[in-house]
Amino acid sequence: MKTIIITGITGQDGSHMADFLLKDPNNFVYGAHRHLSVENHDNIKHLKDHPRFQKIELDLTDVESINNALKQYRPNYFINFAANSFVGNSWKMPINHMQTNCMGVLSCLEAIKNFSSHTRFYNAGSSEQFGDVIYSPQDINHPFRPRSPYGAAKCAAHHLVKVYRDSYNIYAVQGVLFNHEGVRRGEDFVTRKITKNVARIYNAFILREPFLPMELGNLDAKRDWSDAEDFVRGVWLMLNQDSPKDYVLSANETHSVREFVELSFKEVQIDGEWSGDGIKEMFIDKRTKQKLVIINPTFYRPAEVDLLWGDSTPAREELGWSPKTSFPKLVEKMVASDLGWPYNS
Ligand code: NAP
Ligand code: GDD
Repeated sequence: MKTIIITGITGQDGSHMADFLLKDPNNFVYGAHRHLSVENHDNIKHLKDHPRFQKIELDLTDVESINNALKQYRPNYFINFAANSFVGNSWKMPINHMQTNCMGVLSCLEAIKNFSSHTRFYNAGSSEQFGDVIYSPQDINHPFRPRSPYGAAKCAAHHLVKVYRDSYNIYAVQGVLFNHEGVRRGEDFVTRKITKNVARIYNAFILREPFLPMELGNLDAKRDWSDAEDFVRGVWLMLNQDSPKDYVLSANETHSVREFVELSFKEVQIDGEWSGDGIKEMFIDKRTKQKLVIINPTFYRPAEVDLLWGDSTPAREELGWSPKTSFPKLVEKMVASDLGWPYNS
């Protein structure tokens, strides 16, 4: 039996990774979560009675809890998905981002080195590390030019993973993953915020009730969006190479927030058009002239990553990985899920 600790088990990637790994009867998953007064375990409630799944408590800001997990379970794999993952929050809580997303990673590496050196380690890197990009599409060799405390913390963690790999012969990798979304995405992230709001506005249309428009920030930001369920397989492939090497995972295409809005409303047959400029810009229903989207400048960031566009050719060629869900299918799936509609992949 292979044993795997997954941190961030209550989040999007951690829960999808658990589902993926538990399909193999030879895997036993320890799902690591931090203690909260009110549990938020919706993404893993279906695993409650699974015979090869066990929840354990671990907080990335608590070194002892990390040490104890490595000492007690000495797992074959340790997959670190835990993070304060919301970039927008990182200007408000920069120290928390550094403690969780960088020092937490260092604590994991130290614990592996000291108590379980056979454990293969994955840390969740991010395209935010590329930040203020100087060429497109971005591949693994693109320089790190972070634009947020979140991105800076992920860069520092990336360097630490390499240092431990080179210094102590630990199998440690940090995948650099472009944006990946889905039906378990947190509601603060722009894709899920849009699909939840489209569902809300559509339901108001059906019931002929008044509604408030959705409020967004920078509509021109471009991201390379994929389906999170496609990415966990890529992470597992990275963990099972003959020797450790970092890879980019991405869809290899880029789309704006504006396009995501348009496509989401199209899914529910609401035909909108843009009007106005800057903070006066809005998306209006062509038929009723009601406002669907307005700009709220509080969602602008102090520094923006304008364009992310990945090049995952090496992962495709060397690991045999590729994403299955297209951008339009991802939007369709998320809108359908937020409306409770059936969806066929
Ligand atoms: P997510 O849904 O926000 O999940 C983050 C998880 O981390 C949650 O389970 C959260 O637990 C946990 N966590 C936060 N602080 C913690 C702490 N101090 N100790 C232990 N657990 C803690 O994020 P995701 O989208 O699954 O992303 C997974 C990882 O990939 C993150 O490291 C993220 O930065 C990185 N990443 C994500 C993307 C993407 O597009 N999704 C792209 C590149 C990199 P609670 O439920 O208790 O809050
Ligand atoms: N969240 C949010 N809310 N973003 C908005 C909004 C809004 O109302 N309006 C516009 N945006 C823009 C943001 O300014 C950003 O340019 C883009 O939409 C995407 O924002 P998020 O969905 O919050 O994701 P992110 O790209 O900042 O970060 C995600 O991807 C990273 C990988 O590139 C997160 O998952 C990170 O954890 C991950 O590392």
